[in-house]
Amino acid sequence: KKGLFTYDPGFVSTASCESNITYIDGGKGLLLHRGYPIEELAENADYLETCFLLLYGELPTAEQIEEFRSTITHHTMVHEQIHSFFHGFRRDSHPMAIMVAVVGALAAFYHDSLDITDPEHREITAHRLISKMPTIAAMVYKYTIGQPFAYPRNDLDYASNFLYMMFSNPCEEYQVNPVLAKAMDKIFILHADHEQNASTSTVRLTGSTGANPFACISSGIAALWGPAHGGANEAVLAMLEEIGHEDNIETFIEKAKDKDDPFRLMGFGHRVYKNYDPRAKVMKQHCDNVLAELGVRNDPLLRIATRLEKIALEDDYFVERKLFPNVDFYSGIILRAIGIPTSMFTVIFAIGRTPGWIAHWKELVEGKYRIGRPRQLYTGETQRPMPKR
Ligand code: SDX
Repeated sequence: KKGLFTYDPGFVSTASCESNITYIDGGKGLLLHRGYPIEELAENADYLETCFLLLYGELPTAEQIEEFRSTITHHTMVHEQIHSFFHGFRRDSHPMAIMVAVVGALAAFYHDSLDITDPEHREITAHRLISKMPTIAAMVYKYTIGQPFAYPRNDLDYASNFLYMMFSNPCEEYQVNPVLAKAMDKIFILHADHEQNASTSTVRLTGSTGANPFACISSGIAALWGPAHGGANEAVLAMLEEIGHEDNIETFIEKAKDKDDPFRLMGFGHRVYKNYDPRAKVMKQHCDNVLAELGVRNDPLLRIATRLEKIALEDDYFVERKLFPNVDFYSGIILRAIGIPTSMFTVIFAIGRTPGWIAHWKELVEGKYRIGRPRQLYTGETQRPMPKR
């Protein structure tokens, strides 16, 4: 007879509880990073200033950000031996599969010399990951399309450098479009941190064992990949393309409501927000601005997304369940306008989320912590004797 063993309700995993990095009020649709609303950060700061804020708790002074930018810029190259890791993968491997492996492999390069109890080593870890994630991501893309890796350039800002490494090639001059670079920087800001979501909780739980921080970030990338989490941005675009035309929206809305149909409205709903995800609002405005600046009028997928959002927000099923667009609903349309292939959307999310993951890892290992040990609600067999055999 299956019984329900009692469990200690007071037990909280020490890896994921107190934090002073990010605050979310799901009911009000509020998101604060170290007290600053995401809307204001997206408007008035750039991504590296946001990284500094998440890591150190305060916005940087002019002198601090200059030093931080220089440190990040001058560590964007990866060890030449990292190049050889790629050649074990099929060219058609999913970019997130390669990201998990190559970022995890950094643990082999920064292992013996790394002492996470040493504050300086923790700083180095934080800086190296922020520096190298875009380089590795661009290498992943280049590898999957069979083009040579592009080395980072120290004369470009963070987002421009990433686009350069993604889209330049040795055969011709490549100028980064400042509109796209600014759009990329804002996308990174909007993904920088989000309290203790699935991937961040994974990083904290892995970090609570004292594991190598590069391996911890690799575990966060693995968790982010799922379509219910960071993989949703890729799934949203596939959904919009499957819908294909505004006339088909109602059919898909009904599918999303049908409990027997596995189809979900990707980019809608959230474990915490039961109001509009504030990032989705900024992303929608950003999407309109970028497409207008690029002279993209009447993007068919944006038209479908806008109409889908309107219909869903007036539909009782979604209203009663407080299902609103989340950060992933519009991001894919901007990424497509920037020229990022769909298969790389979640990799972009991983680059953006890196400072959040590191800030939470640092916060955990710099405090008094014990290994996280989530408990369960046991629903299996009660104790029973073995049958005579
Ligand atoms: C991210 O945690 C974070 O902070 C994550 C994130 C971050 O920055 O780290 O914000 C990033 O992961 C955003 C979410 C991206 N995922 C998607 O867009 C995938 C589509 N969304 C769903 O899979 C879903 O909404 C989740 C996974 C996001 C939340 O799942 P829940 O917690 O099960 O949803 P819920 O409890 O709010 O569901 C309430 C009801 C349920 O129906 P009932 O059982 O009450 O009848 O709403 C239904 C759900 O079935 N529902 C949906 C739906 N989302 C929830 N129905 C149709 N389409 C949807 N998208």
